[in-house]
Amino acid sequence: MRIIEAGYKKVYVGDAEEIARAVADIYAAILKAKPNAVLGFATGSTPLPLYAELVRRVAAGEMSFADVTTFNLDEYVGLEPTHDQSYRYFMDTNLFNHIDVDPARVHVPSGISVDVETLAAYDTAIVAAGGIDMQLLGIGCNGHIGFNEPGTPLDSLTHVVELTQNTREVNARFFASLDEVPTHAATMGIKTVMNARQLVLIATGASKADALYATVKGPVTPEVPASALQIHPCAFIFADEAAAAKL
Ligand code: GLP
Repeated sequence: MRIIEAGYKKVYVGDAEEIARAVADIYAAILKAKPNAVLGFATGSTPLPLYAELVRRVAAGEMSFADVTTFNLDEYVGLEPTHDQSYRYFMDTNLFNHIDVDPARVHVPSGISVDVETLAAYDTAIVAAGGIDMQLLGIGCNGHIGFNEPGTPLDSLTHVVELTQNTREVNARFFASLDEVPTHAATMGIKTVMNARQLVLIATGASKADALYATVKGPVTPEVPASALQIHPCAFIFADEAAAAKL
């Protein structure tokens, strides 16, 4: 992998498979030091090669998630965990069902109970678990992390957001029609994410090039939620050549 120095952060550039192996190595190092680590997972197409690599390593006996606790970033409001486009279903089918994680220690925000108490309880549960050791992130084309759309306060905790038209259109490819894409989502806030001891953001594809440029070379601003990574003491950014093209 080559390294691009971009302001305060380095961006590690390689193809999707190289990124998957490098980030899997980060998980391996964390779990070696702390088998009961608290891990924050993400959805989207970006982490799929990584999840395949983690599944492979668990099957090969190289890694174990038996003692970890997990917290996912977000969930669509209104989708049951069994809905095939819910993020809970995504995580179960792409990772959790294929690794040795204890289902009792898996947490995904509810898309059904989204009252203030339930949302606050998600942050409380993260703190009670000892805080997130490593939070994985993708990035939206508009610079969102989790579902924290542009304009979300940097001090936000878990909350419900109204999805932008752009985000709904980008994600419509997974639904039968745009009308079926939920209008709202429950998401960890930017502060919830920033509280993690380590962040790993992966950006792949040309559609992420502008967002990645703004993330590492633009100002730290709520208008680009991922720009908050610039002020995180331990944030690693991985990108493929297409996403890194404008750096
Ligand atoms: C959704 C998720 C984000 C994810 C983004 C990008 O908006 N809430 O966590 O980073 O999609 O998805 P993809 O990786 O498919 O480009």
